[in-house]
Amino acid sequence: NRRIIIDTDPGLDDALAILHALNCGRFEVLGLTTMAGNIGIDNTTRNAGRLLAAMGRSDIPVITGAAKPLARGMIDISDIHGSDGLHGLALPEPQATPPSDAVVWMADLLLAEPASSVDIFALGPLTNIAGLITQHPEAAARIGQIIAMGGAVDEPGNIGPRSEFNFATDPEAADIVLRASLDLTLVPLDVTRKVRADTAYMTALRGTKPGDIAADIIALYFGTGRESRPLHDPCVMLLALEPSLFDIEPRHLSVDLTDDPGALSPAQDQPATKVALRVNAKGVLDLLAEGLTRT
Ligand code: BDR
Ligand code: CA
Repeated sequence: NRRIIIDTDPGLDDALAILHALNCGRFEVLGLTTMAGNIGIDNTTRNAGRLLAAMGRSDIPVITGAAKPLARGMIDISDIHGSDGLHGLALPEPQATPPSDAVVWMADLLLAEPASSVDIFALGPLTNIAGLITQHPEAAARIGQIIAMGGAVDEPGNIGPRSEFNFATDPEAADIVLRASLDLTLVPLDVTRKVRADTAYMTALRGTKPGDIAADIIALYFGTGRESRPLHDPCVMLLALEPSLFDIEPRHLSVDLTDDPGALSPAQDQPATKVALRVNAKGVLDLLAEGLTRT
C-alpha cells in the first residue's frame, strides 16, 4: 500500500477524498496535515479529526498547519462549505487536540523514513508544502510524489478569470512548489470539473458507514437547487490509484502573483510539471464509489 500524508482543508470535497483514502484499502494514511483554506484553521483541523473519529481511525494523527496564506488574507467561500467547513455535518468530536506544527512534523517524518517512500496528496492551498520546501529542503527532497489538486490550465478559473481557489488562496506558495523541481502532478479544474456527483450518484452510495457519510456530504454540497457538483479533491486519490483514467502531459507553468493571482501561464524557464488535462469521468466516479462503499 502507498504511504501518504494528506495535506488538506476540509471542506466538503476534501472530506470525500479523506473518506475514500481511509476506506479504499489501498493507502496507508500516515497523517492529516491541515491549513487555512476553505475555512479557518480551527475548523479545518477540527473537521480532519472529526472525520477520523467517525471512521474509527483516531489512531491517525492530525497535525495543525498554516493559519494563513504566506502573504495574503483568505478568500471567503463559506457560502459553499458553510461557516464550519462541512455545512453543519454532524460527526463525533475527536478526543485529543491536534498539535502543531505540520511543517516540522512532515520534515521529521520524511527524514525518518526511506527516501521517496512517502507521498503527499495536497488537497488545499500549498502553504504547508511551500513551508517544507523553504524551511526543510533536505526533507522535501525525500518526498516520493506530490499529487496536488489546484490550478486551471487550459480552462477558466473558479475564483478569477483563470485562477482556481487553492492557487488563488496562496499563489506565493504555489509558485514555490512549481519552481521546486519535485515529482509533482497537478490535478487542475480542467479535469476535476468534469467529475461530477448528481443525485443518482449520491443515492447509490448509501448502505455503508462511509457511503452514508459521503452521501450526506454530497447532499450538503448541492446546497439549494444544484443538480450536480464537481468532486475536485477525490480526483487526487483516483489519479494515484489509476493514472490511466487521466491524460497526463508535461507542462512548464508559472503562477501569476499580481493581476489574477494563482492563474497559470506557459513559461519555458520553469521546470516541467505533470498535469492531468483530460479524464475518464465515469471511470473515476465508479472507482470512487467502489472505494467509498467497500466493506
Ligand atoms: C478546490 O478549492 C476548494 O474549495 C476545494 O476543496 C478544492 O480543493 C477547488 O478549486
Ligand atoms: Ca480542498
